[in-house]
Amino acid sequence: MSPLKTAGETRYAAETVDLTKVYRSGAYKVYALRNVNIKIRRGEFLAVVGPSGSGKSTLLNLLGTLDQPTSGRILIDGFDTSKLSGGELARLRSRKIGFVFQAYNLINRTSVLRNLELPAMVLGVPAGERRRRALELLELMGLRQEAYRKPTELSGGEQQRVAIARALMNNPALVLADEPTGNLDSKTGRSIFELLRKLCHEQSATVIVVTHNLELASMTDRIIHLRDGMVIREEG
Ligand SMILES: Nc1ncnc2c1ncn2[C@@H]1O[C@H](COP(=O)(O)OP(=O)(O)OP(=O)(O)O)[C@@H](O)[C@H]1O
Ligand SMILES: [Mg+2]
Repeated sequence: MSPLKTAGETRYAAETVDLTKVYRSGAYKVYALRNVNIKIRRGEFLAVVGPSGSGKSTLLNLLGTLDQPTSGRILIDGFDTSKLSGGELARLRSRKIGFVFQAYNLINRTSVLRNLELPAMVLGVPAGERRRRALELLELMGLRQEAYRKPTELSGGEQQRVAIARALMNNPALVLADEPTGNLDSKTGRSIFELLRKLCHEQSATVIVVTHNLELASMTDRIIHLRDGMVIREEG
């Protein structure tokens, strides 16, 4: 069984059913998500907005199968992720999902170029091909000159663009981006959103992006507003 491969079985790239996540913090419980029901179409560019602590990162982590729900279900391309084995989930993540985290999670002791090549190495992509792809993405992000520098030598915004380029290395069907433009000036932020939109509409990738920037959110197909772990409004 290979999620995201068998296109046509469902219109939805991802779907949550009564998704609930409760964190235990000492004696009390934090309801990070409560009965969230979202259907995300293949090729959709979706924004998730909401105040700090409303459950945005929790939702992204669950959709990316990095964490498990307390109750409810997550379907990726129609497949119930709770029924996949650990190995199947790991394969799903490395082949089909591109992550851009709130903290960039770059490997600081190696070059920018190497950071980009790593996800492709995991899949056994030949050296020449992965280098070509990495350089192409760096060019696209305006980082060609930075290929041989280390992430720690770059600005916050540059590191953020490296993280986005890395997420796109394996041509993911589903891109999950947590505040990918938080540290960027508005012009660069806009060009990143344009790039993500192109990815959706020209390559049928599905992109879910968390942002605090409502102007950027308005560039997407649909906006989901979260508050206190619940969907309070949808636009688009
Ligand atoms: N590992 C954890 N243990 C306990 N509580 C957690 C944990 N992770 C998140 N929470 C809590 O769950 C709630 C939702 O957190 P989440 O990180 O999803 O919010 P967010 O919308 O991404 O916020 P921000 O905009 O600040 O990134 C918050 O109340 C947070 O304190
Ligand atoms: Mg967050």
